[in-house]
Amino acid sequence: MVGTGYVGLVSGLCFAEFGFETLCVDKDQSRINSIAKGVCPFFEPGLDDLLVKHLNSTKRFSLSNNLSESLKEASVVFITVGTPTKRLENEADLNDVYAVAEKISENIVNYCVVVTKSTVPVGTTRKIKEIISQKSSSDKFDVVSNPEFLREGSAINDFMHPDRVVIGTENKKSEDIMRQIYRPLYLQKTSILSTTIESAEVIKYASNSFLATKISFINEVADLCETVGADVQDVSKAMGLDKRIGEKFLHAGPGFGGSCFPKDVKAFSATAKKHNIEFSIINAVNASNESRPRRIASKIKNRFNNKLDGISIGILGLSFKPNTDDIRDSTSIIIANELNKSGGNIKCFDPHAMTNAKEILPDIDYCKSAYDVCKGSRVLIIATEWNEFRALDLKKIKELMKDPVIFDLRNIYNETEVKDMGIEYHGVGK
Ligand code: UDX
Repeated sequence: MVGTGYVGLVSGLCFAEFGFETLCVDKDQSRINSIAKGVCPFFEPGLDDLLVKHLNSTKRFSLSNNLSESLKEASVVFITVGTPTKRLENEADLNDVYAVAEKISENIVNYCVVVTKSTVPVGTTRKIKEIISQKSSSDKFDVVSNPEFLREGSAINDFMHPDRVVIGTENKKSEDIMRQIYRPLYLQKTSILSTTIESAEVIKYASNSFLATKISFINEVADLCETVGADVQDVSKAMGLDKRIGEKFLHAGPGFGGSCFPKDVKAFSATAKKHNIEFSIINAVNASNESRPRRIASKIKNRFNNKLDGISIGILGLSFKPNTDDIRDSTSIIIANELNKSGGNIKCFDPHAMTNAKEILPDIDYCKSAYDVCKGSRVLIIATEWNEFRALDLKKIKELMKDPVIFDLRNIYNETEVKDMGIEYHGVGK
């Protein structure tokens, strides 16, 4: 595994769990040192335990910062480095991916399969093949696209029990090797799809963009529900019971965030544009989602006639979703920032994301618990649906807050129950 981010470290440890000898490589020596001590560079449920198990007992998992050396032993090399959005552009930045390809080209000894697992625009795996071909003969390697669909917060389970595995290859030899690697999943009847390299690359972006579209769709429906007296939760439940639509990813909220959807939606559209195809739907999803957290912040400001000076606002949840400390493109952070700039006194709490949040939002108050946030606050915003925020004691909240107003951006409370406590309640799409 080249790159020890989410995809690389989770995949490396899960392949070790399958019984393969796995080596994770990263150019960042301090990151490698810390992983070698059993400390994961990010919070992911279950990953610390898996890491300690494989470091200490199975010995199937090792670490290195020397890519050239590591390549000598490998039968399969997964490229799992980051592909962030380029600064000032919507395209994916592939510099790290191509740098790894260069290194591979210089160090192949025995035949190996080079796999793109990072999310890369269609055409990238072929480009990698060209780069490697410049210094290695074509019988020494094959390239494969094998996109990863794991979600942060449930990454191990997603790896071990995926809905499908996609393998994009151009010959039987590499396809057979990849099928061998995924044999443990095949035995549990996971669908393993063989496609061309190009199809595999498109599948990843199309899947993420489609899910993002579902979210933006229901978010706009939620806006309508708010103005016409409908309830978006009833609407999405009934829609979801239609098997052609499905219930997942129809939860209205403050917009999608995280390290994948915002970046992938932009990159997919940029790829289409390069091929003279205008992705009007995906472009609209991107625009709708980018404006959403600021519009939610405006709604909160409007409740106070746009005068937030001196108003104490508590925010629960800073990560882009529960069970992660990831704050990349977190709508909660955008909303906190907007309300802070507008004069609100912001207090917040998150079970795991406060260390990361402090780096980009240093001038707000960080509390020790959800109830600490409530103390003396006028407004409570439930921004991320961590389980521990789902059953807070409303009586206690009423006592701790001053004339409380709750904005439940994830619709995790029952409107009637909250209102019956004498608390003003605003859900999304209600
Ligand atoms: C996503 C994809 O699900 C995964 O397959 C891919 O490989 C990586 O990107 P992840 O970013 O971890 O995974 O989170 P996900 O659970 O998909 O949620 C993304 C965002 O959408 C979050 O901000 C979440 O709060 C939001 N969301 C999700 C909604 O607002 N409503 C929903 O119904 C579902």
